[in-house]
Amino acid sequence: MIIICDKCKTRFQLDVNLIKKTLFKVRCSKCKHVFSVDTSLKEEVYELKQMHIESEKKIIAICNHKGGVAKTSTCLNLGASLSMSGKRVLLIDFDVQANLSLLLGQKNQPSFYEVMQEKTDILKTIKNVRPNLWLLPSNSRMALLAKQCLQQKNFGFFLRDALEPIKDHFDYILVDTPPSVKFFTPNALMAADFVIIPTQSEFLAMNGVLQTENIIKALAKTHDVDYRVLVTMFDENNTASKVIYSKLKKKYKGKMFETLISLDFKMQESQIVNEPIIYYDEKAVSAKQYHALAKEIEII
Ligand SMILES: Nc1ncnc2c1ncn2[C@@H]1O[C@H](COP(=O)(O)OP(=O)(O)OP(=O)(O)O)[C@@H](O)[C@H]1O
Ligand SMILES: [Mg+2]
Repeated sequence: MIIICDKCKTRFQLDVNLIKKTLFKVRCSKCKHVFSVDTSLKEEVYELKQMHIESEKKIIAICNHKGGVAKTSTCLNLGASLSMSGKRVLLIDFDVQANLSLLLGQKNQPSFYEVMQEKTDILKTIKNVRPNLWLLPSNSRMALLAKQCLQQKNFGFFLRDALEPIKDHFDYILVDTPPSVKFFTPNALMAADFVIIPTQSEFLAMNGVLQTENIIKALAKTHDVDYRVLVTMFDENNTASKVIYSKLKKKYKGKMFETLISLDFKMQESQIVNEPIIYYDEKAVSAKQYHALAKEIEII
């Protein structure tokens, strides 16, 4: 039976056979609101904590083999938009460049390297960077991790296994990946429930989407994961961009986000001051678009 909290509207699944009563009260694990599922006057309150339906898109990897297509910007700004709508969001900087950490003012902090090699507690490594927004930072030592772990059996599952005990703390986990296919990207894909492939609306960028799609398909034998293409830095004054955009829409019919992200210089300004665009200027075009993307993610 599906129960919807009448205050925060979170959905829960409840096996009513386990309760053996027809009339009872429940307490929402999200907003703590207590409400009657039926018209019973009985006072027992059942915790719904264990029954919260997990999002099918909880762990989202942001991947494209091509560099500079706004993977990191999308991770940061989609994450910030989701967190502003009340979701608990963990961002994972899974790139040796550590750009996501830099954009959040977290330079050279303990990373997934320390979690794996020095057995540092992953929850202690995660930093709260804004309300409802956390970061697992990266640092240059992550390069050693890739080198050392590639020799080990099951290296593709390190991230998935590390997230398993902590994923219930968050509504969404967004993983930023580097422009390479070694270690980090396969790890992120094996952990992911869903993949966003950001791309510019440019001829050569289409190739990056194709290659990323091929990697997803190649991994599908072990781990089948759904994906959507997101057009970023779209310049509506550029005719070539518009032509490529319609080609992309045709080629990836049903696999493209409705939302696209425009080329917006406010985005670059926001990065200089280490702020997600939605904090820097909520009226900026790209802020509204990332907000729309967050809504789209919640409904697709
Ligand atoms: N909507 C936008 N409008 C204008 N500039 C943008 C926009 N999104 C991202 N950028 C800029 O594009 C550049 C590349 O963005 P970003 O670092 O997010 O790409 P990336 O795919 O993560 O790169 P890499 O492959 O190196 O990790 C950055 O300078 C960023 O400020
Ligand atoms: Mg990046």
